[in-house]
Order: sequence, then C-alpha cells, then structure tokens
Amino acid sequence: MRIILCDSYKEISDRAAELICAQITLKPDCVLGLATGSSPIGMYDRLAEMNLDFSGVTTFNLDEYYPIKRDNDQSYYYFMQKHLYSRVNLRPENIHIPSGECTDVERECREYEEKIQASGGIDLQVLGIGMNGHIGFNEPDDSLNTKTHLTDLTESTITANSRFFDSEDDVPKQAITMGISTILSAKKIILLASGKEKRHAISALLRDEINTEIPATMLKVHPDVVLICDREAYGDK
Ligand code: GLP
Repeated sequence: MRIILCDSYKEISDRAAELICAQITLKPDCVLGLATGSSPIGMYDRLAEMNLDFSGVTTFNLDEYYPIKRDNDQSYYYFMQKHLYSRVNLRPENIHIPSGECTDVERECREYEEKIQASGGIDLQVLGIGMNGHIGFNEPDDSLNTKTHLTDLTESTITANSRFFDSEDDVPKQAITMGISTILSAKKIILLASGKEKRHAISALLRDEINTEIPATMLKVHPDVVLICDREAYGDK
C-alpha cells in the first residue's frame, strides 16, 4: 500500500482528483468506482473545476441506503447528483448506483454485479472509510459478503450517519453495497481518510492482520492501493 500523507483536507482532495484526472487522460473510456460521504466532497469539487471530459467515462457507486427514494436529499443518488453528476458531462446511461427504490433486491444486486462485469471492470475505485473500518457498507462481522448484497447497518454506523438526517430514527437500517470482492476486483483503489475520527480505523488497517472486524484490512491483499490521508487520520506512527 502506498501512502500519500497530506497536511489538509484540500490537499487530500487535490491529490485524489489528480489521480482520477490521470486515469481519465490515460483511458478516456475508463470505469470509475465512486464513493459518497464527506471524504470525497472536496475531490468532486476539484474534479468539477478541472473541466475534464467525462463523456466516455462509466461510473459505478459503491452503495445506497435501502429503502430510500432517489429524491430524498439523504440518498446517495441525490448526493452524487449534487456533487458530481450535475457538474460534469457524464452521460446518464453511463451512471450506475444501486437503487434504493427497487422491490426485488436480490435481482438488483445480481444485475449490478453483471453490469460491472459487462463494463469490463472498474479501473479505479475511490473509497472512504467508516469509523469502524467499514468500506462501502461492508460492516464488521464474523464473515463478509463477497458480491453486491443487502446488508444491515451497525448501530455505530447509524449513529455516525445520523448527523446528516433529522434524527437517528430517520436513518435507513439497511443498504445495498458492493461486496468485498467487487471492491477488490478494481484494478486500482484509492482510499481517502481525514480527521482524527478515522485514526483508529487507519491504524488497524496499517497494523493489523486481515480480519473481518475491520473490513478495510481486506485491502491488504490488493496490489495497488493508495491511501491518501491527513496527519490526524494517520496518527503519530
Ligand atoms: C458511509 C459510506 C461509506 C463512507 C463512510 C465514511 O457509511 N457508506 O462509503 O466511506 O460513510 O463517510 P465519511 O467520509 O463521511 O466519513
């Protein structure tokens, strides 16, 4: 794993946007795996400023709450629309995000995997990390799901994410997420982490053996992961 240690959130955002820019320049019809949460917002702002040509790019988002309506301002679809889709020239037919409105979840998950395969696979996957070490919505558990699936959110994630909702009761209790092997199939992965709240998860990622209680440790088996983090998240190693 390569580590880019940054002095600020802005620097994290700029470095991440540069890697995406390089990917699009090298392969204008690349497939990007995208993330939500506060970590990538600065990166999306920078990408919007760069005036890159996204017309050949295909995107797949990591996850979506379930159930949730697209037009709910807390849906990940709404987030992506606001922070990226509406600001660059991505073609609507090339945008993919699990549907929080579907009725047949199993089918939605199966078809999502098939679409990723059919696209040729993800060239560059962007990840944030939960305070408990989750990636996407792959939560700590005794065993981890490999493919796109419906998952129960842990109490700690519901509490952490309640800051975006009116109340904790409004946070959906489930989500559709890419699985661990979906994520690890990406050719390159960049993981963004900022702030001392992430220090425990980043320390575990850098220190511990692979274990399902810190799902991000699974990234250790991937040959091309770049961790872009600030000193608060990195700690005094
Ligand atoms: C959510 C998302 C994750 C994200 C995590 C961290 O739970 N499902 O993909 O990485 O939150 O979010 P933030 O970047 O806001 O700390």
